Formats: sequence, C-alpha cells, structure tokens
Amino acid sequence: MKVLAIETSCDETSASVNIDGKRILSNIVHSQIDLHRAFGGVVPEIASREHIKRITVIIEKALEEAGTAKEEIDLVTVTKGPGLIGSLLVGVNAAKAFAFARGIPVVGVHHLAGHIYANGIDHELRFPLLALVVSGGHTELVLMKDHYRFEKIGETADDAVGEAYDKVARVLSLGYPGGPIIDRLAKEGEPTYPMPRITPADDYGFSYSGLKSHVINLIHKLESRHEKIRPADMAASFQKAAVAQLIDQSRKAFRDHDAKMFVVAGGVAANSHLRERVEETFRDTPHIMPAIDYCTDNAAMVGVAGYHRYRLFGEEEGMGMNGHSRLELV
Ligand code: KG4
Ligand code: ZN
Repeated sequence: MKVLAIETSCDETSASVNIDGKRILSNIVHSQIDLHRAFGGVVPEIASREHIKRITVIIEKALEEAGTAKEEIDLVTVTKGPGLIGSLLVGVNAAKAFAFARGIPVVGVHHLAGHIYANGIDHELRFPLLALVVSGGHTELVLMKDHYRFEKIGETADDAVGEAYDKVARVLSLGYPGGPIIDRLAKEGEPTYPMPRITPADDYGFSYSGLKSHVINLIHKLESRHEKIRPADMAASFQKAAVAQLIDQSRKAFRDHDAKMFVVAGGVAANSHLRERVEETFRDTPHIMPAIDYCTDNAAMVGVAGYHRYRLFGEEEGMGMNGHSRLELV
C-alpha cells in the first residue's frame, strides 16, 4: 500500500510518501522559520498563509521524489491536531481534496502519535513500549501496550520542556528557536550555576516553570549586580537540570510499568545531552531515538502512524469530503 502523508500543524509544510508504513520514499519539509524569527515565535496568521502558498507544490515534490504518480496512492493521512487551527485546516483540506479526487480513504493522525511513530521508521516497535514525548508544546510519558493504543501516564503540570528551552534562550538573547541554540552553546560551557532539583508532584509528571523562573531570576539578579553572565555555562547548567528531570521520571515509569522498549519523541529528542543520557540510562534495554531529521515536525512520521491507524481501524468517519474533519485541538 502506498501512503501519502501531510503535516502542517505548526510552521513546517511537509509531505511524504511511504510503502506499508515502512519504506519512506520521500519526506519533503519546508520550514518557515526564517519568516517567524523576527517575531521571536510562530505567528499563526503568517503560518497558515504560508502553508496555503506551499502545500500543493510540496505534495507534488513528495510524489516526484518518490517516483510515484497520484494514481498509485492508496491512502492519505494527515495531522489533524493538536496545533495551530489555521495551519491544520490547510493540511486537512488538502488531504481531503486529494482523497476525494482519487476516491481513496483519508485518516487523521494525532500529532503526538506521529512523533512517537517516528521511532517506527527504521525500527520494529516492541510492546509494552514507553514513550517520552518532548516537544515545544508537550512533555509527557505515554504507555503503548500495542500498536496505536496510547495511554498517557504522566504529563507536565505547567510548561513543556521545549518551551522552557525557548524561553531561557530568549532571556539570554540567543535567538529563536532556543532548543538547538542552547544545545550547541552548552557544549562550550560547564554546568557551574546552581539549579534546583525539581520533584514533580505526580509520580510520572513533570514541571518546568520552576526551573525556567529560577534561570530568569538568576540572570536578572546577576545583571542587576552588573556581574558578567557566562551564557555557555548558563546553558549547560539549565540543560543538565532539564534533562535530569526527563531521565529520572522516564526511568521510574519504565521500571514500574514493566515496559519492553523505551523511545523518545518530539523536537527535543534531537537534543544531544538528552540522547547521551538516554544511551547511558537505557543501555541494557531496547531503546530508540529517531534520526535527527525525524525528531522535529515532518510528514514521514505522520505517514507511518497513519498507516498503522488505517491497518487497525480502517477508514475514519467524518474525515471524508462531507465530514467535518474532527480536528483535535488539544
Ligand atoms: O516537535 P517540534 O518540532 O514542534 C512541536 O510539536 O512543538 O518541537 C519543537 C521544540 C522547540 O521548543 C525547539 O526549541 C525544541 O523542540 N528543540 C530542541 C532541539 N531541537 C529542537 N530542544 C533542545 N535541543 C534541541 N537540539
Ligand atoms: Zn511536533
């Protein structure tokens, strides 16, 4: 079965073609980051307008690179949320139009299911599986007892870890998006600034607002005393504390749930310090982290997730041309 996948939930316009949710034939990603950088974050109206301009060209490129004609596609899958509503609508309507014109089914995919399935691109998933989902909007632990069965066992009580990275980078005037910049800078520094060891209230939960505020207050205090801030050391200190919490909670949840495999998903999965700590912590257990290109938003992961969704549950009611799309907004 040949699958066309579309992802437009935030600021990447992406399309991908795969065979049976395994062989990725193409994965075209157009990032709008240069348009949003000046504003220090994604501007929803600009994002949806840009998706509208790009989507048909990106789909055509994905088909061309895959050497696949429109007529060969058997299934369309698309991110239906959560994300920016105007951006999601562009992808969902493109998917519905393609499927309607060809008379083939279309299924919607939850964005986080997509991130988790990025781990299924080059590897066989084993269950029960524990997924640490870390992105700009989410920080959670998801237990999967089988394909496409998701049980959220813990989540952040406040900020997402990616959001904390972006905020700390902004306070240090490092630019946007902050995650990759802090990751790079931290390599040049040492974790010499004191950071609190946060204990989240829930067993498998997280909390990042305390750590974020601590860093912001520390920077302001040093500035008011006219003390020179060492940005690389600050980045290394924040990152060490941020990642320690992810590792502590993941380790506990993995042990308590008798999981057979550990995977990491979402943009922050690209973080080099997190990847090192996962390698060392889960050395003796099967574990996967997606290739860097599959960590941040892309349609390949949506194609793999959508294939499994269709294989297990078939066509999705409400996603057809006359349906009302059933966007998932949270
Ligand atoms: O999954 P994603 O592309 O979009 C959402 O679904 O949110 O994740 C984006 C987030 C941003 O907060 C970005 O700063 C963070 O992932 N990120 C990183 C790294 N690369 C991206 N955070 C830490 N280290 C990185 N190398
Ligand atoms: Zn994402």
